[in-house]
Amino acid sequence: MKIGVIGAGTMGSGIAQAFAQTDGFEVYLTDINDEFAAGGKAKIEKGLSKRVAKGKMDQAAADAILAKITTGTKDICTDADLIIEAAIENMEIKRQTFKELQEIVPASCKFATNTSSLSITEIGQGLDRPVIGMHFFNPAPVMKLIEVIQGGNTPDELRDFIVDVAKRIGKTPVQVNEAPGFVVNRILIPMINEAVSIYADGVASVEDIDTAMQLGANHPMGPLALGDLIGLDVCLAIMDVLYNETHDSKYRAHVLLRKMVRAGKLGRKTGIGFYDYSK
Ligand code: 3HC
Repeated sequence: MKIGVIGAGTMGSGIAQAFAQTDGFEVYLTDINDEFAAGGKAKIEKGLSKRVAKGKMDQAAADAILAKITTGTKDICTDADLIIEAAIENMEIKRQTFKELQEIVPASCKFATNTSSLSITEIGQGLDRPVIGMHFFNPAPVMKLIEVIQGGNTPDELRDFIVDVAKRIGKTPVQVNEAPGFVVNRILIPMINEAVSIYADGVASVEDIDTAMQLGANHPMGPLALGDLIGLDVCLAIMDVLYNETHDSKYRAHVLLRKMVRAGKLGRKTGIGFYDYSK
């Protein structure tokens, strides 16, 4: 099966790797230009090299995964069976991307979006085929969950197809009805926002907040480190969707989160967030 991944950022490249490391899948990893797409593949190569260096994988296996990933712009997806859109969290960009794709790909090609909180129904409006949410978690090659989200016009057949694809790449799918933030992000992102608030109130240091949740709640990483991993811009965008859709004050983004995003302190991807990754 040929998978077209739209967007070669953190999630897009992780999704591409999750497919390429499974037998029976080939991947087109795409972005708005060849350079960004190649950058996504370079990230995958770096991660695989680390595994080779640790003795967890041999070089031939790493090379075989990389050989299954072709990079370029979305125009290379002409014979894709499934498109997974993982572009930025912007409704207009997602809708426009699918509109352009439907002119390029076969009529049989299925459309899925990895949106972290936007409406699946709205993304699918005006398209010649239905859209479904196929929501991966960061780091996508490792995290076992996929939320399969049906929008207002997503047929059960498409849901069953995506559930099957998710299982084929070794993931556990859960079925979710459309709602802002779906299940995981509606719980997780307000928790990270609360951790920002606790830090801003001077209750504890960044390190102590994270240690508290790692050892006190058995989370694999603390909420502020997790915010840095997800990207603080992504966390803010999800809080804003939760708030704008519900107008419930419990979803109001903390002002410190917004300030950090405006300052470009987005976490790992910019080298600084709650922690400094520049060294
Ligand atoms: N890409 C590929 N593989 C990775 C990776 C990455 N970015 N990061 C870690 N791994 C692999 C490692 O190679 C290692 O594999 P191995 O066991 O075969 O060697 C394995 O994952 C474990 O990694 P480490 O030993 O380095 O470190 P940890 O055991 O501490 O695990 C972690 C790292 C998996 C990131 C773990 O800390 C964790 O689960 N953190 C929580 C992640 C989480 O909650 N993600 C969800 C975010 S919400 C989201 O994504 C939704 C979105 O819409 C916002």
